Amino acid sequence: MKNFNMHIPTKVYFGEGAIKDLSIEIKKYGNRVLMVYGHGSIKRNGVYDDVMAVFELGDITYVELSGVDVNPRLETVNEGVRICLSEKIDFILAVGGGSVIDCSKTIAAAVYYAGDPWDLVSYKTKIQKAMPLGVVLTLSATGSELNGNAVISNTQTKEKRGFSSEWMWPKFSILDPTYTYTVSPHQTACGIVDTLTHLYEFYFSAKEDAELSDAMSEAVMATVIKYGKIAIAEPNNYEARSNLMWASAVALSGMTNRGKTFEGFNHAVEHGLSAIYDITHADGLAILAPYWMEYVLDEKNVTRFARFARKVWGIVDEDDMGVAKKGIERTRRYYEYLEMPSRLSHVKIDDARLDAVIDHAFLGDTLGHLKILRKQDVRRILEAAL
Ligand code: NZQ
Ligand code: ZN
Repeated sequence: MKNFNMHIPTKVYFGEGAIKDLSIEIKKYGNRVLMVYGHGSIKRNGVYDDVMAVFELGDITYVELSGVDVNPRLETVNEGVRICLSEKIDFILAVGGGSVIDCSKTIAAAVYYAGDPWDLVSYKTKIQKAMPLGVVLTLSATGSELNGNAVISNTQTKEKRGFSSEWMWPKFSILDPTYTYTVSPHQTACGIVDTLTHLYEFYFSAKEDAELSDAMSEAVMATVIKYGKIAIAEPNNYEARSNLMWASAVALSGMTNRGKTFEGFNHAVEHGLSAIYDITHADGLAILAPYWMEYVLDEKNVTRFARFARKVWGIVDEDDMGVAKKGIERTRRYYEYLEMPSRLSHVKIDDARLDAVIDHAFLGDTLGHLKILRKQDVRRILEAAL
């Protein structure tokens, strides 16, 4: 098992009605809030009204930054920084899904940096400090509510980059599963695929000596698969929504990957697809994962794929290679059941700009460890997925 450090500084309020603790938490940091949200789903489902009621009761002053796009953009970050400085904001509250949270985290860090915030995203400059921020989560998917990561798009350079800092962990996250009842079947499916892929990125790593992390990952995957089906059939099922909400938060919190190595293929290549074609993150992940699994599976790593098939999908058979292939097939069939796209052509991607996607994905010469991939390997995977 690899050495690791761990510190999870985010206070989680979980369950129906958890919003009641919002003003107590905010008041620890001040009274002037920048409330960040997206394109209005919170106004349609009542979450906005709940936040307003808490602000009124707690006598909290606020300024709004709305219109955060999916695949949040640097321009919105700049606008948020401008507001924080001109309005003397004490605290940033993200109300939404991963895009809103990531935009808020980046604003929080960029407030203390005089240069272009892209310097922080691209690791040209190390984050030294950030404003305090909190989260009211409305979509179970990215796990951004319980980590220090953010992903931002630069439309000018056509880049989408993930970055991380201990300063960007939320001070608290309010996780009320009823706030996700209005998430559409497709966005629910996207959240399921994103959560599963966060687990794959570490579960399928070359070394197999972090048993507890592997067993925890398998439990989270099985939970997501089971309750994903239920949440799609019954959007207001509390048991399903609450299990999905906790699973997605845990999946990228670090709890399930201690001692493991980051594989990274799926996220590196998907961020390239999103950067060049502006597609939904999980649409890209759903297309890539089965083709990636098929490509990397070989005699050296077959036991890992066979374990995945047996423990997560419950496939019973003696022959490791046969079981491993069936596990990949079951993954593909589950994604079809979720009505996720299974080919790049389904999201209008042809091979015209695949080289740009590949260049975006590679920061060094290789990707992954389970099977070391070079650019020509990634091209083969993408061509199989066309
Ligand atoms: O714009 P609004 O009105 O908020 O609507 C959103 C958006 O259209 C809607 N939505 C959210 N909550 C809802 C709802 N609709 C109805 N009812 C609700 N309760 O859902 C749509 C998608 O929202 P978004 O925040 O974009 O989705 P998600 O949470 O999947 O975030 C995706 C972004 O996060 C990045 C992705 O790359 C992408 O940019 N990621 C962030 C990570 C992190 N910070 O750790 C890790 C991930 O791997 C990922 O890369
Ligand atoms: Zn993801």
